[in-house]
Amino acid sequence: MASASKAAPAAGASSYSKDCDLPWVEKYRPHKISEIVGNQDAVSRLQVIAQDGNMPNLIFAGPPGTGKTTSILALAHELLGPSYKEAVLELNASDDRGIDVVRNKIKMFAQKKVTLPPGRHKIILLDEADSMTAGAQQALRRTMEIYSNTTRFALACNLSTKIIEPIQSRCAIVRFSRLSDIEILARLTAVVQAEQVSSVPEGLEALVFTADGDMRQALNNLQATFSGFGLITQENVFRVCDQPHPLMVSNIVRHCLGGNIDGAHQGMKELYDLGYSATDIITTLFRVVKNYDMPEFLKLEYIREVGFAHMRISDGVVSLLQLSGLLAKLCLVKERAKA
Ligand SMILES: Nc1ncnc2c1ncn2[C@@H]1O[C@H](COP(=O)(O)OP(=O)(O)OP(=O)(O)O)[C@@H](O)[C@H]1O
Ligand SMILES: [Mg+2]
Repeated sequence: MASASKAAPAAGASSYSKDCDLPWVEKYRPHKISEIVGNQDAVSRLQVIAQDGNMPNLIFAGPPGTGKTTSILALAHELLGPSYKEAVLELNASDDRGIDVVRNKIKMFAQKKVTLPPGRHKIILLDEADSMTAGAQQALRRTMEIYSNTTRFALACNLSTKIIEPIQSRCAIVRFSRLSDIEILARLTAVVQAEQVSSVPEGLEALVFTADGDMRQALNNLQATFSGFGLITQENVFRVCDQPHPLMVSNIVRHCLGGNIDGAHQGMKELYDLGYSATDIITTLFRVVKNYDMPEFLKLEYIREVGFAHMRISDGVVSLLQLSGLLAKLCLVKERAKA
């Protein structure tokens, strides 16, 4: 088994983390904007801001594990260099960010005098800003304007709608979307090489499948599989991630397409008896159907039915009967299409 700690870091690992046993998500966190994978539009906008130096107030919005915090930190480092420590105030959801903190800590920092190169500003990073109370966000409105010649704000959140409109209107929004399978696979391959992890291509594909566009999840699952089994294969990945095996799920889809309700139901019961929740099963079923090789009109119908079942499951109807009903509908779709 390859040793993780002795491997030479690459793929964006910084020199100071070389000998630490850091989680790989941190060890391979990009430190420069140019190293951030995917979301080309957003990244190139940030590069222009980093060169120009005049950072507007920004909101970074997008799903988890796509590089929002990473981008904010990289941008702040590129803009402020050695002054980062004194010119950046970083607050995240673990800090108290009620209205008092806005009144005291944020205002105090905004008033603080820091000598910076011309054209640079102090930066207040509000990570996970969607968890800030509406009151605290309201209190930010005027502060953002009064100190705008010395201080700029960068907010990160999963849903931009959780940020009140007046703040949205004061900021430029940088949107991040889920990373593509190719981008995640390329990053995983780089980390696998740097850490000298033994892997087979199907294992890496399974990691990409389970991550569903979330780079953090992909790297965490890679490290968990490596420390658990030492070898990245499809089997090991699904054992670690504890998700329904897509092969079992695609067998169910195959049975439905063949109109074989008994076969499909047996497969579903097997999965259910393994202890997977209806939500786990329906989520994997959706992803399998999305990638399944079948005529497009059938795929659309399948996705529709799976979507309705997902809605009912989210409403709390999580029985095997619900999933069996879905299978019956999927078999019928094919029958109706034949007619
Ligand atoms: N675009 C990316 N390029 C390279 N690595 C990435 C990217 N996105 C995420 N990562 C990896 O995932 C880790 C977590 O990323 P980050 O903290 O930026 O996610 P986030 O978008 O802020 O998520 P959350 O919404 O949960 O806060 C990083 O340390 C990095 O290793
Ligand atoms: Mg974050």
